[in-house]
Amino acid sequence: MRNYSIFDRAVIGLSRGLEAVNGKPEATARENPAERLPDSELDEAQRKHVAGLMRVNHSGEIAAQALYHGQVVTARDEAVKQRLEQSAAEEGDHLIWCQTRVEELGEKTSLLSPLWYWGSFAIGALAGLAGDKWSLGFIKETEDQVVEHLQGHLEQLPVEDQKSRAVIEQMMIDEAHHGNKAVEAGGVPLPLPVKLWMRAASKVMTTLSYRL
Ligand SMILES: [Fe+2]
Ligand SMILES: [Fe+2]
Repeated sequence: MRNYSIFDRAVIGLSRGLEAVNGKPEATARENPAERLPDSELDEAQRKHVAGLMRVNHSGEIAAQALYHGQVVTARDEAVKQRLEQSAAEEGDHLIWCQTRVEELGEKTSLLSPLWYWGSFAIGALAGLAGDKWSLGFIKETEDQVVEHLQGHLEQLPVEDQKSRAVIEQMMIDEAHHGNKAVEAGGVPLPLPVKLWMRAASKVMTTLSYRL
């Protein structure tokens, strides 16, 4: 997006948002890690619970991609923008994998996806305005919180649900990598109140997305 003005990039961000919330995000076309794994026999309560967890994860990935898209709009450095773009595309893979799993379990993704996208896009753009080192620090903190959250889901998933587990395990690898890349690029630790606010905001999203 090297030669685009900030206005052009904002417009591109808007069209990317429509694609993401309509289930056709920009992605890298990696194979879904669950693709070749057998489906498992889940009882009704397990099916509902796993679908709820994967719907939460889909919302998280919508938010993650939107944060990156928002950050690209206001990032200063070209190399930082390229890194943000690569990570955003990988969030697109995650988004598709989670959506596929939710649908395989006979459920739908969150009704509130547009809200998660646009709210996160705005937060990402604001983080970018604060400067690249803060924006990258924000990524590190976000990704750390996501890894922790996914670890919690892994512990709740039925052992026999290989498909959901494979998706979450690959996501954890990628999120840790995104966080490390952000530190290598110059991200700094965020103040504690910001970290706590981020936890509170993601709690709202995860609680609502499990149901809606
Ligand atoms: Fe992700
Ligand atoms: Fe990530």
